[in-house]
Amino acid sequence: MIKKIGRNDPCFCGSEKKYKKCCMNKEKVRSNDTKNLYSRLYNINLKNKKDIEGIRQAGLLVVETLNKAEEFIKDGVTTDYLDKIIRDFTIKNNAKPATLGYKGFPRSCCISVNEVVCHGIPGDRKMKNGDIVNIDITSILNEYYADASKTYFVGSPQKNAVKVVEIAKNSLIIGKEAVKPGNRVGDIGWAIQNYAEKNQCSVVKNFVGHGTGFDFHEEPQIPNFGRKKTGVEFVEGMVFTIEPMINLGTKDIKILSDGWTAVTKDGFLSAQFEQTIVVTKDGCEALTPYDL
Ligand code: MF3
Ligand code: CO
Ligand code: CO
Repeated sequence: MIKKIGRNDPCFCGSEKKYKKCCMNKEKVRSNDTKNLYSRLYNINLKNKKDIEGIRQAGLLVVETLNKAEEFIKDGVTTDYLDKIIRDFTIKNNAKPATLGYKGFPRSCCISVNEVVCHGIPGDRKMKNGDIVNIDITSILNEYYADASKTYFVGSPQKNAVKVVEIAKNSLIIGKEAVKPGNRVGDIGWAIQNYAEKNQCSVVKNFVGHGTGFDFHEEPQIPNFGRKKTGVEFVEGMVFTIEPMINLGTKDIKILSDGWTAVTKDGFLSAQFEQTIVVTKDGCEALTPYDL
């Protein structure tokens, strides 16, 4: 962790002036050495071409793994069975499941059914017709991390399930549309919150997207709520996830006694889609590409 620079410290740009008299006004800073600047100011590790290709390879594997798991989503199948498919497929492809052992998390993915918002631990729960099931996979391939999730239907969904899944999927699309150099992190959150709330859904505030690539969770945080034109400005080479959690009822959650499983406080449905993206010259690109 890099120590945050103080107002009266010598400026990092080498001017020998105090920081407050030099680069403190971030709005005006335009450095050639953006990589160094973002690291010092925000602890954000920008990725170069080689890194992006590495993360893309990890991301392609994550998408393949999601597709593999999808084949087994059926009434009566346990979430532990899906976890086994995911673990085996990941290891067979020379990668590691990032969640396995992460802060004590005991499985190779998160599987969140119906009222489970996120961080569902695969176990004995059997999927049943009409359920919605989010599968969230993070894989480490050649030391690069990629993180993505999708919400699936088991059998034929009811109207409210179709709705929350649709709004969650569109929230990710709309969030991605807010990403281009010059825009800011708050633009994503504003766009998602505005869209979801206009459609009578709520946005979970307890969990956020995050930088990724070199590590599971890096700076910056990417909230799914917020204000336009606030937060860190996007620059090329930033790699992070967008992962809106959208509820049909209250935004409030509680954590079950296992210490992980987040469920909606009112028991109503919650859906999520997540992709790892990279900021490009004029927008962004998914490194975990799947059709939305
Ligand atoms: N994949 C989740 C995310 O999107 C994190 C899961 S951490 C775990 O950030 F420990 F719950 F697996
Ligand atoms: Co994530
Ligand atoms: Co994830």
